[in-house]
Amino acid sequence: MFSEAKRMELFSGAVFYEMTEIAKTRKSVGKPVIDLGIGSPDMPPPAMLPEVLKNALDEPGVFGYQRTEGTEAFKQEISAFLHRRYQVSVSPEEEVLVTIGAQDALAHLTLAFINPGDVVLIPDPGYPIYEVAVHLAGGIPYFLPLKEENEFLPDFKIIPHDVLKKAKMLVLNFPSNPTSAVATPEFFSEVVEFAKQHRMMVIHDAAYIELVFDGYQAPSFLQTPGAIDVGIELHSFSKTFNFAGPRLAFAAGNRQILNTLGKLKSQIDYGVFSAIQSAGAKALKNAEDFIEMNRLEYQFRRDALLSPIIESGWSVKKPLSTMFVWLKTPKNIESKQFAKNLLQETGIITVPGTGFGKEGEGYIRIALVQPVDVLNQVGKSMANFILL
Ligand SMILES: Cc1ncc(COP(=O)(O)O)c(C=O)c1O
Repeated sequence: MFSEAKRMELFSGAVFYEMTEIAKTRKSVGKPVIDLGIGSPDMPPPAMLPEVLKNALDEPGVFGYQRTEGTEAFKQEISAFLHRRYQVSVSPEEEVLVTIGAQDALAHLTLAFINPGDVVLIPDPGYPIYEVAVHLAGGIPYFLPLKEENEFLPDFKIIPHDVLKKAKMLVLNFPSNPTSAVATPEFFSEVVEFAKQHRMMVIHDAAYIELVFDGYQAPSFLQTPGAIDVGIELHSFSKTFNFAGPRLAFAAGNRQILNTLGKLKSQIDYGVFSAIQSAGAKALKNAEDFIEMNRLEYQFRRDALLSPIIESGWSVKKPLSTMFVWLKTPKNIESKQFAKNLLQETGIITVPGTGFGKEGEGYIRIALVQPVDVLNQVGKSMANFILL
């Protein structure tokens, strides 16, 4: 009855619909389904957080509007955390902005900076909001192909001159969803140089920076000399602390970018509920033990899934980071077809690589959101499946 705005066509989700239908049919005949599709953490947050949340409800003024940028106490804790873990110095007053999840920042940054016709460079494959946000602002996305032969890092040299002239923003995401690839400090230095040369801002989405394995430590973009002159970095509580529902993240870095984003947000949503910010502060203060435990669990899960797959001869590189495995489909089968067949035959839900962009063709993404024993069983089923 009511016609949707044209921009609603951006949110199609056709692939997910088809997968859901197959899963429903299996369930209706009593066959099991194991959902490794969406990267929604299945583990609890740090044990002290529910108590902190409850106690915070008794604080005076807790139910009032909050300042958009975040509470002083939380921003102090964010600044201390970045210094302690990454030797990054940011002013809590001007170089930190609390957001309602990283998604909030990603969806609003383009509205704050992009005019119709401006180009935004985004990764392909990449987290879908990057492209959607560019279209919402009337901008033009330019896809940076992330190729396996290039360690899934973008190659800035292939960008045409006329695109560079119109490019105002570069969005990066390392460790990466969906490829699990990581960036080197040398790559980040190249990014800073590139951004300065072409006068564009850098938005680095570091949602998975704490989910790292085998002793690897992911660098913060803000550690790069000159990074704060050109960009900001987003850190999310959703994956680092399994705190996805309360919607909590922060942006840190260039004060002009943060100030403009805050100005826009103050018209749209104001600040995060202060009880959630109190919990966030507590999580950061005691972060180290929890982060270590959480990432070890993901490492076990990665190994449990991949051991049988690797043994079967399927060529896979073990990821050093994230909660995802980015797996090449065997025999060059199209990703959508492979994901559908796998679900139909084994009940395992994955996401076809093309759900993240054209360059995702030939891959599927598996989220490590089930316990070790289930993932080991999944690995065995997948190994058997490709032998069929
Ligand atoms: C790369 C990436 N960025 C951002 C987000 C969203 O994070 P948040 O829950 O903080 O909005 C996700 C969630 O899956 C993600 O994969």
